[in-house]
Amino acid sequence: MPEEKSAKGELSRRQFIRASGAAVAASTVAGTLISANTKADAAPTVPAAIGAVDVSLKVNGKAHTLSLQPRVTLLDALRERLQITGPKRICDRGNCGGCTVMKDGKPIYACMMLAVDAHQSEILTVEGMGTPERMSVIQEKFVEHDGLMCGFCTPGFVTSVHAVLQKNPSATMDEIRRGCAGNICRCGTFNRVFEAAVAAARSGRGA
Ligand code: FES
Ligand code: FES
Repeated sequence: MPEEKSAKGELSRRQFIRASGAAVAASTVAGTLISANTKADAAPTVPAAIGAVDVSLKVNGKAHTLSLQPRVTLLDALRERLQITGPKRICDRGNCGGCTVMKDGKPIYACMMLAVDAHQSEILTVEGMGTPERMSVIQEKFVEHDGLMCGFCTPGFVTSVHAVLQKNPSATMDEIRRGCAGNICRCGTFNRVFEAAVAAARSGRGA
């Protein structure tokens, strides 16, 4: 049987493999125990983020400070951390408008902005515009005009219409269409969306 240790005291190949196997087994057991403990102990399901920074956001009038990795988008911060799920993740690449929110009074795609870049901003989502019991005029008109089918694009449209009417409360159909040019409805409910938006503009009640 060959010597397992060389004269210089170096590990033989056999010793190395044996030692590595033991280490892997130990780390697997430890990993299982750690994850079991983590599952049992930790209330939040989100693991501690490496390199996280504090991000302050005021969302729908409420102040939040979140510990987030710099790579987290505003959309993920809203949906995954604050459970504000009105803004939808559809394309996640700035093509559809489903994630539109108001940031400091202007409409933006939340999927295209890092949360750190929204630090200390005021965010308004569709949840902050009204409630089922007390809808905004735009929300009301969307219901009256049946401005949705699956409804997935609806929060984005409501927010874009809100942005248009905030700027010009008596916006015309053309102005509303231009303001919603970045929103896509895959169900093809455009006509009803625009009818609802024009009705909101004609109501004289603003956004
Ligand atoms: S999800 Fe943001 S633009 Fe489509
Ligand atoms: S209502 Fe379905 S995508 Fe617009």
